[in-house]
Amino acid sequence: MSAALKNLDAYWMPFTANRDFKKKPRVITGASGHYYTTSNGSKLYDTFSGLWTSGLGHCHPKIVEAVQKQVATLDYCMTFQVTNDKAVALAERVTAMAPEGMTQCFFTNSGSESVDTALKIALGYHRARGEGNRTRLIGRERGYHGVNFGGMSVGGMVPNRKVFSPNLIPGVDHIRHTQDLEHNAFTRGQPAWGAHLADDLERLCALHDGSNIAAVIVEPVAGSTGVLPPPVGYLERLREICDKHGILLIFDEVIAAFGRLARPFGAQRFGVIPDIITTAKWLTNGVIPMGAVLVRDSIYEAFMQGPEHMIELFHGYTYSGHPVAAAAGLATMEVYEEEGTFEQAGALEQHFEDLLHSFADHKHVIDVRNFGLMGAIEMAPREGAPGARGGEAHKKCFWDEHLVIRNGMDTLQFSPFLNSKPDEMQESFETIRRVLDTIE
Ligand SMILES: Cc1ncc(COP(=O)(O)O)c(C=O)c1O
Repeated sequence: MSAALKNLDAYWMPFTANRDFKKKPRVITGASGHYYTTSNGSKLYDTFSGLWTSGLGHCHPKIVEAVQKQVATLDYCMTFQVTNDKAVALAERVTAMAPEGMTQCFFTNSGSESVDTALKIALGYHRARGEGNRTRLIGRERGYHGVNFGGMSVGGMVPNRKVFSPNLIPGVDHIRHTQDLEHNAFTRGQPAWGAHLADDLERLCALHDGSNIAAVIVEPVAGSTGVLPPPVGYLERLREICDKHGILLIFDEVIAAFGRLARPFGAQRFGVIPDIITTAKWLTNGVIPMGAVLVRDSIYEAFMQGPEHMIELFHGYTYSGHPVAAAAGLATMEVYEEEGTFEQAGALEQHFEDLLHSFADHKHVIDVRNFGLMGAIEMAPREGAPGARGGEAHKKCFWDEHLVIRNGMDTLQFSPFLNSKPDEMQESFETIRRVLDTIE
């Protein structure tokens, strides 16, 4: 290991078991295409395309070139009362791919910021229309909407909320999640059972009165809590209930957008169009941090009142619409189009599904789930040691099998490259099976 990597003491790592990690650090120093290089020179296949970020593979030459050029041309400029050509072009490009009527794009730097921005837009929208009583926000159990206070509050991941419980924002409720192993275990794609679970929103409308609810936020396919595809008819039902009560529907598509579901947006795959869409990650292929919130024109228009010289939305980030990030985003969108990436992703779905579901017979496995190029293999927890099986699988893959996999406790999650080679995908799953066979 190089001298610079010897001492990790100063580095408090995010979402990491720091003490365990620092005993034997797993350090990546390079990447190309579908592979990482580690600090000791090993080459590892990446089964997760970054962290739901790098669907085109790492260091795509076209994106690298665009970033290099931009950083030497315009490295930064503020976007409050001034802007840059790349941010303008990216907003136009992304809204052109969006569902009809979603004509407005607000830039952020991450998924968490996109979510908090969307929640603030929803609250501001109702107030601007004289419905300032609509302040309640509804999330879903097992939802993940990032780690800022808004997203954490509407999110439904218990460990993320536990320590901050007294400080979560008020006026938030959750509808129930959609996972039910009794009815849906080992379903390929969307489960047939469970559309009625959306009626849980009616329960909250009855409790608070729908007229007090501002917005409902869900991931079209819950990702980080272990890939939970929506039951057939579920999202349609949510849309209906929102319309009935005048509630805005927000799809958090930080994972579902840009090809993961073989369409520009998950909403288009499901044929259910929300009022606001949050994105990040694949927007720049993970190369430069950036997020975007897409909004229906009617929402934007509601803000456009009062004196024209006044700011309509007191919200934004120093790096909203950063020119280098926007250049990366533009290059990413160009590659998606030139290489037919979304079609490539669609063509891989069946192979991916078959490989995942071949684990149905494994002794540790209690469920397999998939939709688009999102998949999960859930293992039973070892008695008295939840998370141990998943953690061991991750480490064995890394050290012994030259494979980067992601586990959330005992659920292995998969997010293959949108342009994966079918044989490499197959090899990676053969390796994972070998590893699971050795785990107690
Ligand atoms: C659906 C969803 N929303 C929000 C986020 C938060 O994104 P970030 O980590 O970029 O803040 C994530 C991250 O995985 C996500 O999956």
